[in-house]
Amino acid sequence: MPKERILVIGASGQIGVELTLALRKIYGDQQVVASDLREMNPLLEGTGPYVALDVMNKEMLHGQIIRQNITQVYHLAAILSATGEKNPSLAWNLNMQGILNVLEIAKEEKLKKIYWPSSIAMFGPTSPKKNCPQQTIIEPTTVYGISKYAGEFWCQYYHQKFGVDVRSLRYPGLISYKSAPGGGTTDYAIDIYHKALQHKPFTCFLEKDTFLPMMYMPDAIRATLELMEAPAADIRIRTSYNIAAMSFSPATIAASIQKYMPDFTIDYRPDFRQAIANSWPQSIDDSCARVDWGWKEQYDLDMMTRDMLEKLKA
Ligand code: NAD
Ligand code: SER
Repeated sequence: MPKERILVIGASGQIGVELTLALRKIYGDQQVVASDLREMNPLLEGTGPYVALDVMNKEMLHGQIIRQNITQVYHLAAILSATGEKNPSLAWNLNMQGILNVLEIAKEEKLKKIYWPSSIAMFGPTSPKKNCPQQTIIEPTTVYGISKYAGEFWCQYYHQKFGVDVRSLRYPGLISYKSAPGGGTTDYAIDIYHKALQHKPFTCFLEKDTFLPMMYMPDAIRATLELMEAPAADIRIRTSYNIAAMSFSPATIAASIQKYMPDFTIDYRPDFRQAIANSWPQSIDDSCARVDWGWKEQYDLDMMTRDMLEKLKA
């Protein structure tokens, strides 16, 4: 079987670092080319090849894909929800042109597989709040959500029309301890652990009862790899799969931390991100992912809290 050559775009970001390291374990260090607009994340240093790359520059991207004999692309570069509301045109341009460039080159070069993440942010205030189903009313109100919604349908279009094997997950908010988050509404759920370990009070930019779908990074990485390894015939959804693990609010994550650190305190000062959070579902029905390719999460809130505190302390 010919060896896979994988390009990760946005490899220096929160997901990119961990996904690149996980892919290198599976396919071999030299087979996974990390790339980003910014410098290589220090956690990737010495672990495999890195190229500076702007996904908006289609010629540069095309050239790298040919030069590096790339067979699969994981395209992660995007502007997230909170940063997107501060700069809507930048978010729209990057989030749309990036995926269109990748899909067009995948079609031309007959690449084997493409991965591109969507988000629970593609749902809007008129979608069901609890156990939001795979297919439902979708009227996003953030530029990030609109770009994910449009991106999903471009993926389905390239699959149906040109046979591009592009796969996608609607990630919930992702919590991790390795690389820093990149400007999302769910980032508070990472910062809170850092503050707890510094023995500082935490001021949350969301109200105490704002429940959102969330997932610990090891589950998200495993979900991505399992989706990409599943037989193509099992992937019935070519927009993007709902995927879930847990749902919590600032008050419930604080209570989870207090089980391990009883002196931890939190107060609430909501800002513009409250409106973004209010527009999203509180929990997600991911039964299609469970049926089609066997998705099952491992971490609940308390398991994640224990692991986050241990890993960050170390
Ligand atoms: P991030 O902001 O941490 O990382 C994105 C990376 O893309 C950054 O390193 C950035 O430098 C790079 N980048 C930006 N513009 C680029 C360009 N023009 N060319 C090449 N690289 C460029 O984001 P993340 O949290 O790792 O998210 C990765 C993907 O997952 C995004 O599509 C995001 O929408 C999606 N997602 C993330 C979450 C989450 O909670 N982190 C949840 C849902 C979906
Ligand atoms: N975690 C992401 C954000 O808050 C959701 O896609 O933007």
